[in-house]
Amino acid sequence: METKLVTIREDRPDREAIRRAGEILRGGGLVAFPTETVYGLGGDALNPESSRKIYAAKGRPSDNPLIVHICRWEDIYRIADPVPEAARKLARAFWPGPLTMILHKTDLVPKETTGGLDTVAVRFPSDPVARAFIEAAGGFVAAPSANRSGRPSPTLARYVLEDMDGRIEMILDGGEVGIGLESTIVDLTGEEPMILRPGFVTREMLTEVLSRVEVDRTILDPDCHLRPKAPGMRYRHYAPKGELVVVEGERDAVVFAICEKCNAAKEKGERVGVIATDETAEAYRKGCRADSVKSVGSRKDPLSVGHSLYRILREFDDEGMTAMFSESFSESGFGQAIMNRLLKAAGHHVENV
Ligand code: TXA
Ligand code: MG
Repeated sequence: METKLVTIREDRPDREAIRRAGEILRGGGLVAFPTETVYGLGGDALNPESSRKIYAAKGRPSDNPLIVHICRWEDIYRIADPVPEAARKLARAFWPGPLTMILHKTDLVPKETTGGLDTVAVRFPSDPVARAFIEAAGGFVAAPSANRSGRPSPTLARYVLEDMDGRIEMILDGGEVGIGLESTIVDLTGEEPMILRPGFVTREMLTEVLSRVEVDRTILDPDCHLRPKAPGMRYRHYAPKGELVVVEGERDAVVFAICEKCNAAKEKGERVGVIATDETAEAYRKGCRADSVKSVGSRKDPLSVGHSLYRILREFDDEGMTAMFSESFSESGFGQAIMNRLLKAAGHHVENV
């Protein structure tokens, strides 16, 4: 199959291309599209055959449920029942936007889409291209992140093409995404609302709307022996091909330790990459023999870090890095999402200095 890459400009969206993308979904095909978080790999959420194709294209186990994307508030009632007061409050506060809610599903949603579960993940994205595309596709688009299983989620259409060329009909290229990490997932089917995956919408933001919000223990504690409640959080996701170590501690000590580790790794013939910050990148460039030092953003601006993390992991993969070292980040606010993804990429390999 030939994968068509179509550029969509946000200020002048190509209606005809979006209509064709919608037609592809209605016919049971797959189209990747931009959202405000990461690129999604879309299929018709109400067509079991489309969901099977998504799993095949991603190389993803079919017990890992998909998020259903909608483009109208009221459509939540067609796929979820009941829609509790907490869901309505969160929708009013954060939709359209980077928040996914887990609710009990209606019969309209096939089990193929929900990985066999009786619950459904619902998200109403804010990206205008995503919304126009969902509408053109009939209103219910099942979409995981548009990476092959085990690769970082794509933040650029180029990365979608790398992973999906020949596997899907079309890619809508809306440029680089804004947030760069996947949506926050909140489960509203238990006794208390619970965050299953941290994201741009933080626990602090959620507790302003709902007084109590729990966090799945497996997010906070890697040694916890419970199973993560979001099936996808069980897999070693976002894994770079080389080995990544996160170094934690006071800033100067971290820089010093990473420089020493880089030099030791170079002695062993490794290709070495450093994930630095704007504040420290120069120090590594001067102080160690790493093959590549990349700043992931500024410590003063956690959003800049979230925005670039997956891109840098991909670049290091492409450059053939075999050993990578990263600084660590504060786990407050959006930092929780950054650390969650970084630690997963590192297989929870952390060294304290
Ligand atoms: O930002 C995002 O959410 C992106 C964009 C494309 O919207 N999508 C995304 O989808 O990250 P995916 O499939 O890569 O991650 C969805 C996560 C998985 O960990 C999955 O297990 C979990 O959501 N999930 C989906 N439905 C669920 C359900 N019914 N119960 C628990 N977890 C669920
Ligand atoms: Mg994913």
